[in-house]
Formats: sequence, C-alpha cells, structure tokens
Amino acid sequence: MTKITISLIKADVGGYPGHCSVHPELIKTAEEKLEEAKKSGCLVDYRVMACGDDLELLMSHRTGCDCGDIHGLAWETFEAATETAKGLKLYGYGQDLLADAFSGNIKGMGPGVAEMEITERTAEPIIAFMMDKTEPGAFNLPIFKMFADPFNTAGLIIDPSFHHGFTFEVWDILEHKKVLMNCPEEMYDMLALIGAKSRYVIKRVFAKPGSKIPQSEPVAVISTEKLYQTAGKYVGKDDPVALVRSQSGLPALGEVLEPFSIGHLVSGWMRGSHNGPLMPCSFDTAHPTRFDGPPRVIAAGFQLAEGKFVGPVDLFNDLAFDRVRQRCLEITDYMRAHGPFEPHRLPMEEMEYTTLPHVMDCLRDRFVDTE
Ligand code: 13P
Ligand code: 13P
Ligand code: MG
Ligand code: MG
Repeated sequence: MTKITISLIKADVGGYPGHCSVHPELIKTAEEKLEEAKKSGCLVDYRVMACGDDLELLMSHRTGCDCGDIHGLAWETFEAATETAKGLKLYGYGQDLLADAFSGNIKGMGPGVAEMEITERTAEPIIAFMMDKTEPGAFNLPIFKMFADPFNTAGLIIDPSFHHGFTFEVWDILEHKKVLMNCPEEMYDMLALIGAKSRYVIKRVFAKPGSKIPQSEPVAVISTEKLYQTAGKYVGKDDPVALVRSQSGLPALGEVLEPFSIGHLVSGWMRGSHNGPLMPCSFDTAHPTRFDGPPRVIAAGFQLAEGKFVGPVDLFNDLAFDRVRQRCLEITDYMRAHGPFEPHRLPMEEMEYTTLPHVMDCLRDRFVDTE
C-alpha cells in the first residue's frame, strides 16, 4: 500500500494587528497556491489554518518527508503570503522567512515543520495541534502525558495493544543531539531531560515491538525549530505545531486532548520573554490580545480518507474546556501581577536572545567591585 505523508508547515509572515492574528487575505493567498498544487497532482489534499499570527499549511502527499518539492511549495506559499502582507503593511511581514532564497529543505530557514510518513489505517484519526506565543518545549508535558502517563491515558493500563508503552525520540536542541528512550522503563530518566523544556524537546513518538503499528512510522511528531538559533537574534518565538495519530492501539481522542485541561505554564507570551498558562481555545478565539497572550493552542481533528482530510473539527470548541480557560485567565491575572519579576519574566539565560542585553550594555560601565 502506498504510504501517505502529512506535512504541517507554519510561519509567521505578518501579524494583524501587531502579533495578534492572520489577515484573511493571507489565508486566501495560501489557499490559491495550494489549490494549484493539488490540481497539478503535487498534493493529495491541504487545509490552510491560523493560530494567532501563524499561518499553518497542512498538506498530504505521496512524496515522503523532507521532499524538496513540498518544502519548496510551502516556501513559495509563504513568500506569496508575505507579498500580500507587504501590500497590507502587516506587522513584521516575512518575520519567519529568515533565508533569502529556498535551498532544498525548509528546515532551519525559519518556518516550523512537523511531518510523518505513514501507512493509512482502516480508520486514521489525526490531530493537528497549533500553538502561538510559545516554544516547542511547550509540547513536552502534553505529549508525555498522552503516551506515558497512566493517570492521563487509561489505555496504558487497560488496552493490551499498548500496555507495553511507547518509545520517545528526545532532541537536545542546544547540542544538536538526539536519544531514543523507552517508557515506562526509562520514564524517570526521560523526565529528567524533558522537564528542562527549553533545551530537551520530544521530537517523535513511536510504537514499540508488539504493536500493530509499524515501529518505523511515528505516531506523533513535533516541530522543533528554534528561531533564535537560526536568526541569532530575537525575531519572535518559534510557535510550534504537532501531529498526533489516535485510536486503535494508540491513545483515544479524549486521551490525546486531556493533557490540555491543565493550562500548564509555558514560556513565550509578551516579547517571547514571559511564562504563562497555555490556553486551549477554539479557532475563532485563537487571537492572543492580553499582553499578547496568554499563549494559545488549537486542535484540528481529522479522519484521513486515502490521504484526503475529512474535517477539521475544532476540538477545543467544547464547553468541557471552559473551566481550564477560566483557570488560565485566573493564572494570567496572577502571573501578570508580577510585572517584570521572575518567574513571570523568563530567567536571565533565556533573555539572552531578546533585546534585554542591549539595555544591560548601557549599565555595564557603572558597576564597581563590592567590598
Ligand atoms: P517591536 O515593537 O520593536 O517590533 O518589538 C516588540 C515585539 O513585538 C517583539 O516581536
Ligand atoms: P510571535 O512569535 O507570535 O510573532 O510573537 C512575538 C511577540 O513578541 C509577541 O509579543
Ligand atoms: Mg509575530
Ligand atoms: Mg506567532
């Protein structure tokens, strides 16, 4: 059976206004480009979505991960949307397009990428998560809970098809190294790493031997691009995306969504420099306004049908998530009351890539030795 590749590629190509949302014209431009590609047979299907100021391209195709044609198509689409953004003088147009020209693979050029090549099952539920005003490590806690925490995922206890757990691919994004870790056996070691979410990020999750899902195919994948490392200076947070498969030997849809009922603290928010609660919200309310936040996550649910996207269902548009939203607003009040003080503001090491060092430069000569 031919495999299908799902590529979720995102970029901020201009905010409307400030860093708040994506202008509808940008969505239109992107849809025109991807429709052309679908007609030419390059894509099987696509959806264009938005979370905050990030333009999200969800594409299915038969050409595998890291395909130059698909990455090139995404790059051209972002370039076309940047032109539209320029015409409307949108804020920071072209923000995430850090390279001058496309060079074969979009990774490291600014946009975020989550891709998986899979054998489509009899029924293939897939969830696209999209976040704004935060960083890839924001996915560590929810992905861990989905695939390793029995208090979250009942199936880890009661479903023999994944009672034996999952394998996690963890990246050290500072040293550019990766390690495979098995859960539950190595759970404590893995938590030692992924609790440090600004450095160690879960990149992929795989089924283990004994599962009906091939071990070579990921069951979850997260974008891990760090914009500041690419750009060398602060140009916005690398708002991440993820793809998660569900059901029949994997966590059920409700087990995949449950970790977002916490409103866990993530870094990002105003000027990418503050900790705050991650608020799950509907597509229509994913426009961070209060102190440019609080950070948002949306979830688009699909069934795949021969590579076609049946959906999306706006999964957090459910009153069952109202209470966590309320809690996030209370946490927002509390965190905001700290103003420029840590731990609302990020620790000094993480402020290194912001504009703060320039302010500190002016003070450097004023310091004298203490006794
Ligand atoms: P500017 O207003 O200088 O762009 O900085 C604030 C900000 O929004 C950082 O991205
Ligand atoms: P984005 O990373 O979403 O562009 O936000 C930048 C920012 O500085 C918000 O205050
Ligand atoms: Mg922006
Ligand atoms: Mg953004």
